[in-house]
Amino acid sequence: MRQIVSQYASLTPIREFQWELSDKELFDSQPELIQRLLNHPQLSQYPPSSQYRFSFYKCLISKLECALEDDDMEVRQEFYDEFMDALSQSKSGSGPPEASYKTYFYNDDPLTLYEDQTTISKGTTGLVTWVSAQSMAGDIFNPHTDLHRQLSQSSKVLELGAGCGLVSLAASKVFDGTVFATDVDDNVLQRLENNVKLNALPTKVLKLDWFKDIHIVSNIIPDTVVAADIVYDDYLFPPLLSVLKECLRVNDKCKIFIRGVVRNEQTCKQFIDLLKSSIEHDISINDIKNECNGNRSHEVMYDVVIG
Ligand SMILES: C[S@@+](CC[C@H](N)C(=O)[O-])C[C@H]1O[C@@H](n2cnc3c(N)ncnc32)[C@H](O)[C@@H]1O
Repeated sequence: MRQIVSQYASLTPIREFQWELSDKELFDSQPELIQRLLNHPQLSQYPPSSQYRFSFYKCLISKLECALEDDDMEVRQEFYDEFMDALSQSKSGSGPPEASYKTYFYNDDPLTLYEDQTTISKGTTGLVTWVSAQSMAGDIFNPHTDLHRQLSQSSKVLELGAGCGLVSLAASKVFDGTVFATDVDDNVLQRLENNVKLNALPTKVLKLDWFKDIHIVSNIIPDTVVAADIVYDDYLFPPLLSVLKECLRVNDKCKIFIRGVVRNEQTCKQFIDLLKSSIEHDISINDIKNECNGNRSHEVMYDVVIG
């Protein structure tokens, strides 16, 4: 049940949904489903988009109807009501999917973000949460990870290319240190601010363009730098590298955690070769299991830890 809720809350596409219960088990769990999906305080305040709720309840109702064996059995009216509500609110037409609240559960702790649903919109990749950020946030909540241990000793955390802010929000939620969520794009920074407010966390939002704003690093002097899914364009590597080197210059003990998905092996190799040839601190590179928030993806992920 927990997996169903977390997949629904984070808008897992219905074709990838792992139901984990048979239709009959789902039918018998209707009161719990109502409690955990429809009456959940966070999900009723910040529900998934009407388009998503429409698809989800359509599929759920069809599964529940498959489990009907005799005339005394009924699918609960609440699901039909929710389906009709989503149907009445859904925009018709074939435009891009609507922006939506997405709630990520870590140990039942929710973080809700408002996000676009397309990987690029308004000319940026930062209005949607990428899989590396979801996985990194999972590590932040997990006391057995190096990232969690490092953050527990950090007083200043800097996130580069924060996008919608999931990693910074997770760090602010779990730890007392000051977290600086930075990005370059004005729409992204506005979205970040809104997501910080939505979760009532003390995360600080700053513009830090790797090309222009390197001086900001010496104002912050971070103990830990985190970055998810920022290695995708070799044009960005030289300024990004300058920012990383500056972090290590202003604090020799700073640790840097970069997580990414291998989309293009050549680009990843180029970035790692560049790091190895220009940074004297220890660099470790590990493949990691890509499993986050109840979702399993087949993409290959890697972690770079510097310092
Ligand atoms: C693929 S998104 C990843 C967003 C977020 N870290 C995540 O994983 O969900 C890359 C992010 O890097 C930011 N970015 C790109 N160029 C940048 C630059 N020159 N300075 C700072 N941030 C930059 C983008 O605005 C975008 O938010």
